[in-house]
Amino acid sequence: MKDEELLQAAVVARNFAQAPYSHYLVGAALLGRNGKTYTGCNVESSSFGLSICAERVALVKALSEGEREFDRMAVAIDGGEIAKPCGACLQLLSDYAPGLILILGNLEGHFEKTPITELLPRPFSKGDLLK
Ligand code: THU
Repeated sequence: MKDEELLQAAVVARNFAQAPYSHYLVGAALLGRNGKTYTGCNVESSSFGLSICAERVALVKALSEGEREFDRMAVAIDGGEIAKPCGACLQLLSDYAPGLILILGNLEGHFEKTPITELLPRPFSKGDLLK
């Protein structure tokens, strides 16, 4: 699948965002090694701290369906800026997809492609627990 197509899947997922508090709509699309795409959107709670980002929704959907290998994830927000995953998402993505390539874009189709290791170069990991 082309990067542009994965970004388009994130743009579509963004339409389902539940963001009545921030009004910041985010969509994500995670491509599994088997070629299946898992999408997610942000889902907010009236108890703000319970809100969950689009990236983690997509990852948890994929993991819960047995997917274990990941290649790329696209994230889409409104125009102007491009998406920028938060630290919590980068940590969880690093745990399960340390080689992930991120396609960070917006509704206009603009995007930057970057390895997760550039955004979170020294993630906490399983190895740290065993030391
Ligand atoms: N959010 C995401 O879904 N992904 C990001 O990359 C950054 C932030 C959500 C969380 C919350 O619903 C809203 O955007 C504002 O922080």
